[in-house]
Amino acid sequence: MRTLVTGGTGYVGSHTCIDLLARGHEVVIFDNLSNSSSDVVSRIEAVSGRVVSFHQGDVRDQKHLEHVMAEFRVDAVLHFAALKAVGESWTCPLAYYDNNVGGTLSLLHAMTATSAGALVFSSSATVYGEPETLPIREDAPTRATNPYARTKLMSEEIITDYGHAERGFNAAILRYFNPVGAHPSGLLGENPRGVPNNLLPFVAQVAAGEREFVRVFGGDYPTPDGTGVRDYLHVVDLARAHVDALDYLASNRRNTTVNLGTGRGHSVLEVIAAFEKACGHEIERRIVERRPGDVSSCFADTKLAEDVLGWRAQLDLDQMCADAWRWQCRVSNNKSGNSQLADSPFIASPSTLGTRS
Ligand code: NAD
Ligand code: WQD
Repeated sequence: MRTLVTGGTGYVGSHTCIDLLARGHEVVIFDNLSNSSSDVVSRIEAVSGRVVSFHQGDVRDQKHLEHVMAEFRVDAVLHFAALKAVGESWTCPLAYYDNNVGGTLSLLHAMTATSAGALVFSSSATVYGEPETLPIREDAPTRATNPYARTKLMSEEIITDYGHAERGFNAAILRYFNPVGAHPSGLLGENPRGVPNNLLPFVAQVAAGEREFVRVFGGDYPTPDGTGVRDYLHVVDLARAHVDALDYLASNRRNTTVNLGTGRGHSVLEVIAAFEKACGHEIERRIVERRPGDVSSCFADTKLAEDVLGWRAQLDLDQMCADAWRWQCRVSNNKSGNSQLADSPFIASPSTLGTRS
């Protein structure tokens, strides 16, 4: 398949490109680099030993999208491009609606114009809000509680309506729980700008000596150790699910919405303990006030993903932390000027690399 990957130089998108290339897809990345760097393209090529086509552009620029999609005769789209910080979505709601909902609409128009019939959409467990029952099933009520979550829910609804109306168009909506970790090569991972919002990158920066201590948001939740529980999922497992979803759409031509998680919850203190094992030293932490808007526990019912996609997470929390630590060490080394990229067993030999189109 010729697959367009919007947001393909971002965290989840870049890992998914590796899987797509490994499974024989032709990949075209479309990204405005608002939260990523074009270096990622050469890293994807280095890890995969394949050439990818990169186009810098904004998904809201429908004509540009159409042009790229028509030129490459794109059959399927993986739509990652979005803004994703919950806190920022409260301060800049219009930017979130414009980018995330406007971007999805523009993409659907471009898909119609170019007759691309398969879409895999990045949604989030945030659409469930505070869950009534655990684990969370896909038919649980949705109740988005912040502008970011509402952009995901609105996009889901638009895609679902379009999927019902348009023969020849099918979508897989994937609700991720908490993606963490990095590619085992140490070449791809999450590199947040500024202070990380999410737990894992923050813990990694404390472990690397870049920050003093982890603020544990709340020690009085109704959980076994009093700290928040989440379903952390290795980004490599998550990436694989997208290619499985494309296979599903190609053979079933039906719309589907599935959770992607491990089905297991881990507390903040368990995450810190696993990271201590990975980095080999203690990580300082202090329990502080709860973070407004946080839920106590959230983890997925994964049965539908297994039944529909034949997908199941394979990597555990220790592996997530080990890979996140390898990546953090490389990022920290680069910051201190010791950049060494080409010493990984996962990097394909340069002779296998072609010229980028
Ligand atoms: P990311 O910020 O690393 O990647 C998003 C990419 O999209 C970036 O490279 C950015 O430059 C690009 N982009 C943003 N707006 C764009 C636009 N208008 N046009 C073109 N490119 C644009 O984020 P990620 O963590 O890889 O997340 C990917 C998707 O998964 C997002 O839709 C996000 O909402 C969703 N998601 C992420 C998480 C998570 O915790 N990482 C959880 C659930 C859902
Ligand atoms: C995890 C746990 C915190 C930071 C967010 C978005 C969600 C999705 C994934 C995009 C919670 C605690 C965190 C810290 C802490 N993104 N924590 N100290 O909140 O489950 O989900 O990212 O779709 O929409 O809301 O993830 O990593 O921020 O928090 O104690 O410095 O870690 O309270 O219990 P969250 P997170």
